[in-house]
Amino acid sequence: MTNIINIAIDGPAGAGKSTVAKLVAEHLSYLYIDTGAMYRTLAYAAIQNNVDTKNGTALKELLDTITIQLINEKEGTKVLVNDQDVTTDIRTAEVNKQVPQVASHEAVRLEMVERQRKLAMEGNSILDGRDIGTHVLPNADVKVFLTASVDVRAKRRHAEQIKKGMPSNLEELKKDIAKRDEMDSTREVAPLRKASDAIGLDTTALSIPEVVNEIINLVKKPAL
Ligand code: DC
Repeated sequence: MTNIINIAIDGPAGAGKSTVAKLVAEHLSYLYIDTGAMYRTLAYAAIQNNVDTKNGTALKELLDTITIQLINEKEGTKVLVNDQDVTTDIRTAEVNKQVPQVASHEAVRLEMVERQRKLAMEGNSILDGRDIGTHVLPNADVKVFLTASVDVRAKRRHAEQIKKGMPSNLEELKKDIAKRDEMDSTREVAPLRKASDAIGLDTTALSIPEVVNEIINLVKKPAL
């Protein structure tokens, strides 16, 4: 038994997981662990090293040679692969396209889950991803499953990209999000689904502070 508190936030792309998780983490002084960034980092490394993202064995071998560090900073999570800063490189359209394939391999997922559990044991933490409540931390103290309509999720991503000065096309984003939803939900290994004991929150009509408050209230419930 440990006194460490873990919060699991799962849900599809663009439901607001990372924005909300980061704010909750700041508010509670918890570690924020962006597990999607870990799969993205491997996808980026595969592209750089010409590793076929359909080849799970080759991807696992590549993963064994890389360290992935997630550093919490005020502006967001800084991501380092073998000490090289790849924070922006892992958010490109090419990585978006390859990452669901990378995340579909069992050997890759087993290693990622192990690394994520180790990180979660470093202190009170909030992890966001697709399988946190179902696989990574089935005993998490609080589990939340965030959803929102495809339209709203695409609009949010679009605004985010524009704000970062990155090129963005709303219609392409809608298609991309719907495609990723399908791949993440239908893959054989650890598909995206709500844990039976997770609280579902549809954020389509909720503001960010509203969602953040809901989650903070769940953490503060006397049962904890
Ligand atoms: O949350 P994101 O868009 O950064 O996630 C990138 C990809 O990684 C996405 O296709 C889903 C996958 N992923 C996953 O399979 N399991 C996780 N725990 C986190 C992300």
